[in-house]
Amino acid sequence: MKITLSATQKQQIDLLITKLQHAFSSTESEDFLCECQLESANLPKSLRKHFYELRTQIHKSGFFLLEGFEVDNNKIGETPQHWDTSWENSRTLREEIFQCLISCSLGEPFGWNTQENGRVLRNIVPIEADKNEQLGGSSSVPLFWHIEEAFHPHRAEMMTIMCYRNNERAGTNICSITQMNIPEQYLIILKQPRFLIEPDKSHFPENNKSKHWELQSEEFLKIKNFLLNPAPVPIISGPEGHERLVIDQAFMSAVDGDKEATEALEWLYQHMDEVRTTVQMNPGDVVFLDNRRVAHGRAIYKPNYGPQARWLRRINIAADLTKSFEWKQAPYARKIL
Ligand SMILES: [Fe+2]
Repeated sequence: MKITLSATQKQQIDLLITKLQHAFSSTESEDFLCECQLESANLPKSLRKHFYELRTQIHKSGFFLLEGFEVDNNKIGETPQHWDTSWENSRTLREEIFQCLISCSLGEPFGWNTQENGRVLRNIVPIEADKNEQLGGSSSVPLFWHIEEAFHPHRAEMMTIMCYRNNERAGTNICSITQMNIPEQYLIILKQPRFLIEPDKSHFPENNKSKHWELQSEEFLKIKNFLLNPAPVPIISGPEGHERLVIDQAFMSAVDGDKEATEALEWLYQHMDEVRTTVQMNPGDVVFLDNRRVAHGRAIYKPNYGPQARWLRRINIAADLTKSFEWKQAPYARKIL
C-alpha cells in the first residue's frame, strides 16, 4: 500500500517542521522528542488516520510506504561514510524532524544503549568493512529476514525507515505474517517454543566503537546474558487471523537436535522469499513497519561508496515508553540500558 502526501498535507507538515526547527538544533534529546510528541497531534488528521490504523492493527498487512516528502539532494550534504557520524549541526534537521513527527504519531521513539549509545535516528549507510556482515552497513550479502531486536522483550512495536538517497536502487524486502500461507503441519511447530534467538551483532562491543563516546564492557553484560542464555521461544503466536511474528534469520535456530523445528524454519524462510514485497525507496520515501507482524531485510546491492552513497535513517518506536522502566534510568527515558 502506498500513501502520497497531498499539497495541503505537505504545507501543514512544513509549518510544524519550521516551528520545531526554530526551537531545536538537534532531534537527539528528550526535550525535543517530548515537544515533537505534542506537536505530532497537529499533523493532518487524514494522515494520522493511517498511523492509527497501523498501530491498532486495523491495517491488514502492517506496512505501508509514504511518499511525497521532498528531499533536496544538495541541502542534505554528503552521505556520512560511517554510522559513527556527529550528533551535532545536522544538515538533515528538516528531514529528521519530519521522520520524528510521523514516528511520534505511532508511539514513542527510543534507542538502545548498546547500539550507538542510544541514538534514536540511526544512520544506515554502506560500510566496506561490513559488506559481508549481517549489519546495516552490509551490501554483498542479503540482509536476512528479521524484526528489530527479536531477542529482546522490550523491542520496538513499530518502526520507520526513511530514505535520503538510493541511487543504487537497493531493494528493501518486506514480508508480513498476513502474506504467508503456512501449512498446518509447520504452523503447529512454529507456534511452539522450539527456537533460540541470539542478540544481533549491532549490539556487540566491536560494533559500537565510536570517536564520540565510549561504552564500558559492563554495559554489555545484559546483551551477553541474552547470548549465553537464550530462552526458547515460538516464532508465531496469537489467535488465527491475528498472528504475530518473531524472527531473526541470521541469529536464530531450532533448539539442539530438533529436526522438525529446523525443517519448519527452513520452509518458512523459503516461503517468505517467495511471497515477499520488495520496495526500491526513493529520497523522501518512508516505510512504516509493524515490528510485531512484519519482517524486513535487504537484497544484495553494489554501493556507490562516497558522498552520494545510499543513505537511510531508522527509528524504533515503542507503543508504551514506560513498559521498559526496569531497563532504564526513568520510566520516560528513551535509552534502554
Ligand atoms: Fe532492520
